[in-house]
Amino acid sequence: MSLQYSGSQGTSDTEMTFPDSSIRVENYLGFAPFYYSLAYSMMAKKCVCIGSGGGFVPSLMRQAQIDIGFPDTYGDETIIIDANLEPIPHPDGGNPLWGWQGHAHWAEDENHPFNQRYPEVKKIIKKSSEAIKDITFEIDLIHIDADHSYEGAKKDFEAYFPKVRKEGIISLHDTDSCGGITVLIEELKGRPDIEVINLGEMVYSKWTKEDNIFDLETKGKLPKDFDPTVRPAHAEKYRWGGLGIIKKLS
Ligand SMILES: C[S@@+](CC[C@H](N)C(=O)[O-])C[C@H]1O[C@@H](n2cnc3c(N)ncnc32)[C@H](O)[C@@H]1O
Repeated sequence: MSLQYSGSQGTSDTEMTFPDSSIRVENYLGFAPFYYSLAYSMMAKKCVCIGSGGGFVPSLMRQAQIDIGFPDTYGDETIIIDANLEPIPHPDGGNPLWGWQGHAHWAEDENHPFNQRYPEVKKIIKKSSEAIKDITFEIDLIHIDADHSYEGAKKDFEAYFPKVRKEGIISLHDTDSCGGITVLIEELKGRPDIEVINLGEMVYSKWTKEDNIFDLETKGKLPKDFDPTVRPAHAEKYRWGGLGIIKKLS
């Protein structure tokens, strides 16, 4: 599989090293094929991503729908819900990119490669609590990755769950790296109407020189002129902070 994610979250513009070696590989796709496969394998007609950041997950959802090749009149679509919020300052000061709240990169620049590559993806620039009114169809696959507080993620889950079709899938990001979401996924495991698999945190490779933009970001040391819309910094290529896969049973 060779996909160009338009630089979204650094999936295609950097190199990787194979684990425990100095062998470098170009265009490694990291966790991207997993998101792609979810949409592709269940022939997801309606995909929703709450919290889109660089457009990484919605790119993969849409690309899977394109590759499936539904007929033109089928009605398949990918929808983004993102409030394009002001970033929260880092508690230690300084780093405007810190945390889960921040601008959606594509919303800042109409020429962002995500906009050019997937112009048909519908963008609802609202808080998830308001955007729910715009969801007038049954969802096949939804990714929840917006408000990372326990209360916020729980509200998103509860509000959107009734919109998901039977046997539809909800993926919940950062189940192992944000305390509130870890609590939420543990709670969800007790529900009889869903099946929950939690893939905990995994680090499967090391940063290369280029990937160190993420290292600099987390230390709050990115250069002042660093432009995340041109060179997004993201770790999903070599580690992820846990992903819950939740199937709606009834
Ligand atoms: C971690 S990023 C999501 C990354 C993403 N899944 C992707 O594919 O690139 C979080 C995003 O959620 C948005 N966000 C945070 N709270 C939100 C809320 N209550 N409603 C809608 N969007 C929200 C932020 O603006 C930010 O763009």
